[in-house]
Amino acid sequence: MNYENKIILAPMVRIGTLPMRLLALKYGADIVYTEELIDWKFLRSKRRFNDGTIVFRTCEEEKKKVVLQLGTCDEARALKVAKLVEHDVAAIDINMGCPKEFSIKGGMGVALLSKPDKAYQILKTLVDNLSIPVTCKIRILKTPEATLELVNKLVSSGIKAIAVHGRTKDERPQHAVHTDIIHYVADNISIPVIANGGSKEIEKHSDVAIFKEMTGSSSVMLARAAEWNCSIFRKEGLLPMDTVIKDYLKLAVDYDNSPSNTKYCIQNILRDLQETPRGRQFLESQTLEQICSIWDLGGYCLEKQSQFQKMGIQGRWQVCP
Ligand code: FNR
Repeated sequence: MNYENKIILAPMVRIGTLPMRLLALKYGADIVYTEELIDWKFLRSKRRFNDGTIVFRTCEEEKKKVVLQLGTCDEARALKVAKLVEHDVAAIDINMGCPKEFSIKGGMGVALLSKPDKAYQILKTLVDNLSIPVTCKIRILKTPEATLELVNKLVSSGIKAIAVHGRTKDERPQHAVHTDIIHYVADNISIPVIANGGSKEIEKHSDVAIFKEMTGSSSVMLARAAEWNCSIFRKEGLLPMDTVIKDYLKLAVDYDNSPSNTKYCIQNILRDLQETPRGRQFLESQTLEQICSIWDLGGYCLEKQSQFQKMGIQGRWQVCP
């Protein structure tokens, strides 16, 4: 895995499931992160082929480009999970940036930034025992110097790259991103820095290069810009929203994504447009077929589902209340 000059789909809870990752790859993303998966939830799951409640679903197509992001506060548990998927994913990333109460209370996410020894230990354990690259994703601290001191410690574990979200733990998405602090880090460490936090300013593909330049980073990672319109990864330019939704829906059908997750992702593409008559029809839909019909893909959905059933793959998600 090479982290230079890459455009990356950021980890996003409920958004970064398999269909969205495949869509980002189709549109030109170089690397895709999974949503954060919590270590102990993962350890309670079993490996299945197309069956059971899904914690993490993957496929051959993304194998060399998918980074599994873990939420963890414990190196032994993190290693156990990483060993379960070591041959299925391209790299493992540790979330050190999530400011949600659930993460902080569990000693995960941003809590690790105030426990550098623990953070280092988790990374070092993974680096020493895995055959695939290990990375982490952090938020900045209050000053460039404090951020760099922490980053140097994390880098000394042997990680291959570091994603830096240019906001502190108390700053929210609407706050300006501190490109200068990302730049300071990138100037002073030897591994690739993946700059993150620029979605508000990234409205088209060429803005990605501007953000890369402003942060002096090796690569750029996009979350909200991709959540809203995944075709931001296309060099050829943005596609209309309905085209993106159709492309997304086909993948959701092909990979038997759950109706609730599919609906959630489309809601985040539609945003204000949920107030239109079509948007309201969408909000009332419950099954994958009902969602697909709104974008003229009802026939496609039924055909695929009957193929799956013939092949013996349960049409479980379509058995709705
Ligand atoms: C996120 N973010 C996030 N970060 C992370 O490390 N693990 C995660 O699972 C999530 N989940 C998540 C869900 C959603 C819906 C959003 C919008 C964001 C944070 C995200 O990866 C990124 O750091 C920020 O959104 C800033 O980048 P952008 O949006 O400016 O590109």
